[in-house]
Amino acid sequence: MLNAKVEKAINDQINAELYSSYLYVAMSNHCSQINLPGAAHWMRMQAVEELTHVSKFSDYINDRQGTVTLGAIDAPPSSWDSPIAIFEESYNHEVMVSGMINALVDVAMSVSDHATVNFLQWFVGEQVEEEASVDEIVQKLKLVGQADGGIFMIDRELAGRALTLPPGTLGA
Ligand code: FEO
Repeated sequence: MLNAKVEKAINDQINAELYSSYLYVAMSNHCSQINLPGAAHWMRMQAVEELTHVSKFSDYINDRQGTVTLGAIDAPPSSWDSPIAIFEESYNHEVMVSGMINALVDVAMSVSDHATVNFLQWFVGEQVEEEASVDEIVQKLKLVGQADGGIFMIDRELAGRALTLPPGTLGA
């Protein structure tokens, strides 16, 4: 049985993960518009990965005999000033999500819900990876500055991102 405070906090996290996916769909579309197909692909993979986080949280609530409650999802922005602005927003967003996951751990600890604290450890590690992978792209974009050739090369690299699904989600 899931504590009501923990259930509410996980449902709020599901909404944040859905917003994350929505945000990355918007970023992907914008990257397509500014002729960065590799970045568009990278963002699309990220949008799908966020849905796997929704699946993991939903499955967990269901496994604990709780109720998944879906709320409205805020509209994301639809354009950004530059390629680096897109990835900087992505980085800042992931830092915010890491903070939310930490706060979620605090809620679970406050009611001695060890099962949820244990479940959340996967997300604690995942956020370290997410922040690091976006930060690497931001740093590369800073290195090349406005040079079209450099941005083109980074875009080609981003086109190679494969979709990695956490076990037990979306058929993985
Ligand atoms: Fe689901 Fe990007 O954190």
